[in-house]
Amino acid sequence: MANSGVDTRRRRFLIGATSVVGAAGAGAIAVPFLNSWSPSARALAAGAPVEINISKVGDGQLIREIWRGKPVWIVKRTEEMLKDLPSNDSKLKDPNSEVVSQQPEYTKNSNRSRKPEYLILVGICTHLGCSPTYRPELSPADLGVGWKGGWYCPCHGSRFDLAGRVLKGSPAGTNLVVPPHYYKTDEVVLVGEDGEATA
Ligand code: FES
Repeated sequence: MANSGVDTRRRRFLIGATSVVGAAGAGAIAVPFLNSWSPSARALAAGAPVEINISKVGDGQLIREIWRGKPVWIVKRTEEMLKDLPSNDSKLKDPNSEVVSQQPEYTKNSNRSRKPEYLILVGICTHLGCSPTYRPELSPADLGVGWKGGWYCPCHGSRFDLAGRVLKGSPAGTNLVVPPHYYKTDEVVLVGEDGEATA
């Protein structure tokens, strides 16, 4: 399946805002059109898994897809990004992913992923459902010195690191959700099923 959106902004060079789409608002807009959807569109909205081709995701890039009517993000983290993650631990509400509802057991690890470089998240803020903005750059003026990249929610200011873990001081109480997923091949990930593989 083709990637529906590629965020080409790079880690150290990103500036700018993206539009905010509240999940509840998007759902409300979609409802009147349900009757005209094809059977496959209905199946996807109801929860069918979605295949995503990750072969063209560049280092530091984020792509977007839709699963169960929700935005799903896939980020290909660089070695530098991964190396920076542990330095955030003392600033996080749940550094070790102890809240079991927020990820499958197989991603309860330091990277919150099956493959270290690929992070897969449901792109909905765990506070009140806005869509946080990808901010991969280091120490931008508005987020301050010490920012190691992650997501910023423009609605009420929640911050998440590059493993989707929420920073202390954020109104959001829990980490961003990692959906069930597994890699069918090196280039294709299936979001919506756990699969049997361990990676
Ligand atoms: S909805 Fe994200 S901080 Fe409130």
